[in-house]
Amino acid sequence: MNEPYGPEAPRPISSTSPGIMKMFMGFLTLFIVAQTIGTVLFCLYLHMKMDKMEEVLSLSEDYIFLKKVQKCQTAEGQKSTLLDCEKIIKGFQSIQWKDGPPKEQPKFEMQRGPEHRERAHLMHKNETSVAAEKRKPVAVHLAGQQSNKEGSVLEWKETMYGPTNSLISNKEGKLKVEEAGLYYIYSQVSFCTREASLAPFTLYIYLHIPKEEDRLLVKGQKTQSTLKSQCELQSIRVGGVFNLREGDMVFVNVTDSTKVKYRHGNTYLGIFKV
Ligand SMILES: *[C@@H]1O[C@H](CO)[C@@H](O)[C@H](O)[C@H]1NC(C)=O
Ligand SMILES: *[C@@H]1O[C@H](CO)[C@@H](O)[C@H](O)[C@H]1NC(C)=O
Repeated sequence: MNEPYGPEAPRPISSTSPGIMKMFMGFLTLFIVAQTIGTVLFCLYLHMKMDKMEEVLSLSEDYIFLKKVQKCQTAEGQKSTLLDCEKIIKGFQSIQWKDGPPKEQPKFEMQRGPEHRERAHLMHKNETSVAAEKRKPVAVHLAGQQSNKEGSVLEWKETMYGPTNSLISNKEGKLKVEEAGLYYIYSQVSFCTREASLAPFTLYIYLHIPKEEDRLLVKGQKTQSTLKSQCELQSIRVGGVFNLREGDMVFVNVTDSTKVKYRHGNTYLGIFKV
């Protein structure tokens, strides 16, 4: 039995290994190559992922910052010592105002409250009052003034609240209009008489045009008192609308100017353009 290669004799490994070895090596190479490619790909993926993560992280940082700003704007947040509100708000403002603080912020304007609105309102009112001054009504109201001059024409003075206007001048009881137009003229005269007289006490409003005869506009009358012991106070009121030309004058005269009462509110003359 010198069969070198008996069927039962174990085959030396070397005789069968080359095929398997080759296959094994092939697999190993393939595995290593695959591993390398995989690693490279994974690294690449990881890198990309890291980039994204960084972005996400910075975004969430921004979000946290905004959240802090929001909290700092509440009263509670400002009390919290955990937040450095002053710094946060400053940081926020520096982002907001890249070109320096704004000159006017309408949003804040609206938050200023009633005080500011009141001031704005006042300024608006002043503007309108200026406009009103420009178109000040042509109106005058005067109070009767006792004069020691002879005559029946009554004289007038300015009052505390009665309007005056440079377009209506008052000279010796005559009111002169400087602007033609339609005017309402009114007057009241209070008087008291003691002696009985058949003639009534009369109040006239006359139109005086230079170099022309005076023209009666309106008149009012009252029967004189018959009481001898005391003065019976009476008032006559008249008024009407008239067309006046530039330079026209109106005046008031009465039956007896010595009987006229000049206590405040008793006797007056007014005129205004309608
Ligand atoms: C409005 O006008 C009055 C006087 O007419 C003045 O005293 C006041 O200061 C003015 N107000 C403003 C906001 O200008
Ligand atoms: C009032 O004035 C008119 C016009 O000037 C005159 O005619 C009249 O006599 C005067 N009346 C009295 C009572 O003086």
